Amino acid sequence: MRTTTRMALIAGILATASSMGLQQHAFGHDGATGVVKQRMEMMGNLGGAMKALGHMISGKVPFDAGAAEKAAAVLRTHSGGDLTELFPQGSVKGTSEAHERIWDEWAEFEQLADDLELYADALAVSLQREGGGWGAAA
Ligand code: HEM
Repeated sequence: MRTTTRMALIAGILATASSMGLQQHAFGHDGATGVVKQRMEMMGNLGGAMKALGHMISGKVPFDAGAAEKAAAVLRTHSGGDLTELFPQGSVKGTSEAHERIWDEWAEFEQLADDLELYADALAVSLQREGGGWGAAA
């Protein structure tokens, strides 16, 4: 059961991440400055946290409660208002892959950023309460 709950949380995080206003082209940071650079770094950190969780879930590395909590904390501090404040209106210059749709549908964008915060909180609580790996089935 624990495994199922945590898997669902991680799946939720991934679903949130994949429904963002990204344009469809290769990622690159060349020449990014200011807020665009900041958010690319933030997304890179999110990617790192998800990778660490993914490796534990798939069994590629053993479960490590400290590392899992650290990853949940990264998701938490890179979500909600901390995320949306790095997307001021019209900040799609240079190498940004952000889509104009973000500002057309700002309420939905904020909702998705808040969803990430919720999932991160739930994951942190689950780790604190249940500890000990991903569950009996892991
Ligand atoms: C665990 C969750 C997430 C992961 C792993 C993730 C990962 C990434 C990665 C790898 C990039 C490419 C950045 C680069 O150029 O190197 C990116 C860009 C982006 N992400 Fe996320 N993301 C997550 C959550 C979110 C959320 C919740 C939002 C919005 C509510 C969001 C909105 C965006 C946008 C708009 C861009 C394009 C930024 C730009 O190029 O200016 N992401 N994300």
